[in-house]
Amino acid sequence: MNAPTMQGLNLNAPAYVKNPRLLAWVADMAALCKPDNIFWCDGSKEEYDRLCEQLVKAGTFKKLNPAKRPDSFLACSDPSDVARVEDRTYICSAQKEDAGPTNNWMEPAQMRATLQPLFDGCMKGRTMYVVPFSMGPLGSPIAHIGVELTDSAYVAVNQRLMTRMGKAVYDVLGVDGEFVPCMHTVGAPLAAGETDKTSWPCNPTVKYIVHYPETREIWSYGSGYGGNALLGKKCLALRIASTMGKSQGWLAEHMLILGVTNPQGKKYHVAAAFPSACGKTNFSMLVPPTAFEGWKVTTIGDDIAWIKPQADGSLRAINPEAGYFGVAPGTNTLTNPNCMASLDKDVIFTNVALTDDGDVWWEGMDKDSGKLPDHLIDWQGKDWTPAIAKETGAKAAHPNARFTVAATNNPALDSAWDDPAGVTIDAFIFGGRRSTTVPLVTEARSWTEGVYMAATMGSETTAAAFGQQGVVRRDPFAMLPFCGYNMSDYFQHWLNMGDKITAAGGKQPKIYTTNWFRKDAAGKFVWPGYGENMRVLKWMIDRIEGKAQGEETMFGVAPQYAEINWTGLEFSPEQFNTVTSIDKAAWTEELKLHTTHFEQLAYHLPQALLDTKAAIEKRLSA
Ligand code: OXD
Ligand code: MN
Repeated sequence: MNAPTMQGLNLNAPAYVKNPRLLAWVADMAALCKPDNIFWCDGSKEEYDRLCEQLVKAGTFKKLNPAKRPDSFLACSDPSDVARVEDRTYICSAQKEDAGPTNNWMEPAQMRATLQPLFDGCMKGRTMYVVPFSMGPLGSPIAHIGVELTDSAYVAVNQRLMTRMGKAVYDVLGVDGEFVPCMHTVGAPLAAGETDKTSWPCNPTVKYIVHYPETREIWSYGSGYGGNALLGKKCLALRIASTMGKSQGWLAEHMLILGVTNPQGKKYHVAAAFPSACGKTNFSMLVPPTAFEGWKVTTIGDDIAWIKPQADGSLRAINPEAGYFGVAPGTNTLTNPNCMASLDKDVIFTNVALTDDGDVWWEGMDKDSGKLPDHLIDWQGKDWTPAIAKETGAKAAHPNARFTVAATNNPALDSAWDDPAGVTIDAFIFGGRRSTTVPLVTEARSWTEGVYMAATMGSETTAAAFGQQGVVRRDPFAMLPFCGYNMSDYFQHWLNMGDKITAAGGKQPKIYTTNWFRKDAAGKFVWPGYGENMRVLKWMIDRIEGKAQGEETMFGVAPQYAEINWTGLEFSPEQFNTVTSIDKAAWTEELKLHTTHFEQLAYHLPQALLDTKAAIEKRLSA
């Protein structure tokens, strides 16, 4: 193969890269970004080890004590670069209406003109890594390929854990295969002879996370953190994929996928959407309480689902990712034992604290929450002691501290997690985080009512996104920061999907809404959550099997107290009432908020949702 050369820089592409469009794009981007070198990642373990070693030398990684946490590392980011930056995230469709009112938008030509000078020379003094990856099992008819160009070795090694990354992707891509070009820079070029003064180069003031849905491109500038930089995840698998799904007739969703098998061996698959940092990873790895002997929950995915309708009217889903980028604080052997076991080895931790014996720690790591280490180095490299924490409130780990780990570390991994055909979805769950109003669990009476519930979901904000915490924001389908097009068109796409299933002779999956987070008058959570959520999951399965009658409410079908298996849990009818009651006054206020929400989404808002709202209002006033 002839290696194109630009400005003295040889592309040096390996002979197995045969896609001319890819080669031309890499050449163009190298000419624009002007890196010192180009490094073609092959995805091998040897390459991963070498890059990790290089990151240790650069001070970005600390190698953890191999006796405590084999082959694991800790990275601590710049304090300005700790979360996704939703206010800097853009959907640059040709028409503003196509991005809709929930997305930042800029005219594509104007955005290109803005980014051009920023990317010009942005990789000076650095290496450009070419990272080929498949979102979904290699070659699956539901999967898609991306190639990320990045000047961050941290991104390259994380992508090896989070995606199917490396040489084999080029075999699937072939000469004329399609890929989504994902351009990433930390936005911190080095002058000639200059070396990094920081172990986490980024641009502390200028950040752009840009998507061009029509041309299916991603351009990310200035951040090295999580969803801003690992472009397969939120950028490709949700924002770009949701637009692909709209035009091609499938769904890209912010959903975990789990398998639940009953003692008779019958298995169901559930896809569940919860807003960021609301326990998706915990739910996807749930360990049933002892009263549920013989029941098994297995993980297919913890964050994203790609769901494609089949000719027989079924919906088949894959997890496009191959690893977990989960929130560490709060994870312990009670809240998520499978996750804790996944983190025993081969992990990259970001922004957790370092113990004196070279291991990691975060708030809520010990199931006995009163137990604190005597001394730590916190995520900003400062001494931390319980006394300092008490005096200053300093957190040892950043609240959005993360672990990156391959799915294959998960002891509860589903045997079909890597099946190119995906799994058949039997039910959807939409779960908000609300301290009041929304009941523990409700089943929609129809697909349209389920779409209404999901479209009006609200959630109190968390640390996964910048912004004020604890404020309720509407987060339809848990997709507010991730839908790559107009939200009302997205609602219509969901309604169409229901019709498509029926037209093909299929059975629409049941739709549930849940809220694990209701509080009592004293402000304490009432529902125990975590593994106990199995009790609710089992009720859903009973409904699917026609074994639970439920109770009609003005907001769907709810469980009767006696329909939940309470063995092994003290939970009185009064407590049940506290988490399931429907307060008419609160719902009257809630529906006013739905009105405001729908007013904001008025352009293309499906009439079916307004009709559903009117029906709820009628029931409420009856
Ligand atoms: C995530 C998120 O990281 O939703 O999964 O923010
Ligand atoms: Mn997420």
